[in-house]
Amino acid sequence: MTLPFFPPDLFESDRELLLDLVRRIALAPEQKFILGEHTARLEALLRDSVGTAEAIACGSGTTALMLVLRAMGVGPGDEVLVPAFGCAPLAAAPALLGATPVFADVDPWTLVADPAEVDKLIGPRTKVIMPAHMFSVMADMPAMRQIADSAGVRLLEDSAVGQGGVLAGRAAGTWGDAGVYSFVQVKVFGMPGEGGMVVTGDRELGAAVRSLRNHGQRPGQRFVHHVIGYNSRFDEIMAAFQVHRFAGLAERVERRARIGEYYTERFAPLADRGVLAPPPGREGRCYYVYSLLADRREELKGHLARHGVDSHVYYPRPLPEQPAFAEFAPAGRRWPAARSACRRALSIPIYPHLTDAQVEHIADTVCRFA
Ligand SMILES: Cc1ncc(COP(=O)(O)O)c(C=O)c1O
Repeated sequence: MTLPFFPPDLFESDRELLLDLVRRIALAPEQKFILGEHTARLEALLRDSVGTAEAIACGSGTTALMLVLRAMGVGPGDEVLVPAFGCAPLAAAPALLGATPVFADVDPWTLVADPAEVDKLIGPRTKVIMPAHMFSVMADMPAMRQIADSAGVRLLEDSAVGQGGVLAGRAAGTWGDAGVYSFVQVKVFGMPGEGGMVVTGDRELGAAVRSLRNHGQRPGQRFVHHVIGYNSRFDEIMAAFQVHRFAGLAERVERRARIGEYYTERFAPLADRGVLAPPPGREGRCYYVYSLLADRREELKGHLARHGVDSHVYYPRPLPEQPAFAEFAPAGRRWPAARSACRRALSIPIYPHLTDAQVEHIADTVCRFA
C-alpha cells in the first residue's frame, strides 16, 4: 500500500458535522449562503487568535492577495517584489492588476526570498514587497519589515502556507501591513472548498478589502458600489465548518511541527550524502509541506515510490521561467538559487494524522536511500 502525499480522508473525522451543516444552513429560513453570521464568527476567531484589528474572509488565498494589492493602490506602472520560487499566484496577483512582478532570488537552503536580493531590487516604482513563507520556513520577516520601512513601501505577507508559524513571538501573517491565509483543502487550516483570509492591523486597509471582496459595496449598504470590486465572498457552510475545526487547529499544527522536527533530526546525517533537510529548530517554522533538497531527486522519488511513499515536486520551474510570466523576466537576470531548488526540491508527506509508524517508515525509507 502506498502512503499518499496528501491524505485521502482529509475531513473524515468531521464528515457527519459537515453533512449536518449542509442540511442546517440549506434548510434555514433566512437562506443565507454567503457572508453571514458564520463568516463573521470565523473572522472574529482568526482576528482574535492572531491579535489583529481586522480579519476579512475571502473566496481564496489568490483573490485575497489581489484584494490587498488593489487596496494598497497597486496598478499599472507599479512593481511588486515577489520570490522567484513559489506558486503562480505570487506573480499572477500583481500581474492581473497591471503591475509588474519583480522576482527576487531565494536563499538556497530556506527557499524563501533572500532579503539581500529584495533590497537590491527596490526601485522608484516599487510599491509593495510580498514575501511568502515556504515549505517549512517562514520568510525573514524582520528583515523584510526593515527593508519595506526604510524604502517607504508596503509589506504584504503571503502566509498562505504559513498559518500556525511563529517568529520572534509574532504569528505568521501579522508581520506585514497585511497577511493572507489560504484554506484550500490541503492547507494547514484547509477545508473542503476554496477560501482564504486577510488579516491586518490597518483598519482602513481592512475596510477597503472588505468592500472590494463584495463588488465595492460597503457592509450594510447594498447596491451602492463605491469602487469596482470583485466577487471574493466566503461560503457560510464552509465558515461554520471552519469555526468547528478551529478548536483542533493548534493541535494539528503541533503534530505537523513534531513530525517536521523528527524528520529533520533523522535526516541531519544525510547532509553530506546529497539529501539536505530544512534548518532545524522551532522558531519561524511552518510545516504545510516538508521539502528536502536532493541532488539525485528523481532517483529519490523513484526509491520512495518503490517503498510505498508518495512524494511531490514543488516547484519544477522558477516563476520567471514560466511561459505566463516570461514577459516579466528581464533579459540577463538570473535566479540561480530558485533554479537549483526547482531541480532538487522533493516534498514528503507530513499531514497530522500520519501515525508514528508511518512517519518512521517514511524517515527510514529516505535514510536508506542516502
Ligand atoms: C504561497 C502561496 N500563495 C498563495 C496561494 C494561493 O492560495 P489559494 O489556492 O487559496 O488561492 C498559494 C496556494 O497554494 C500559495 O502556496
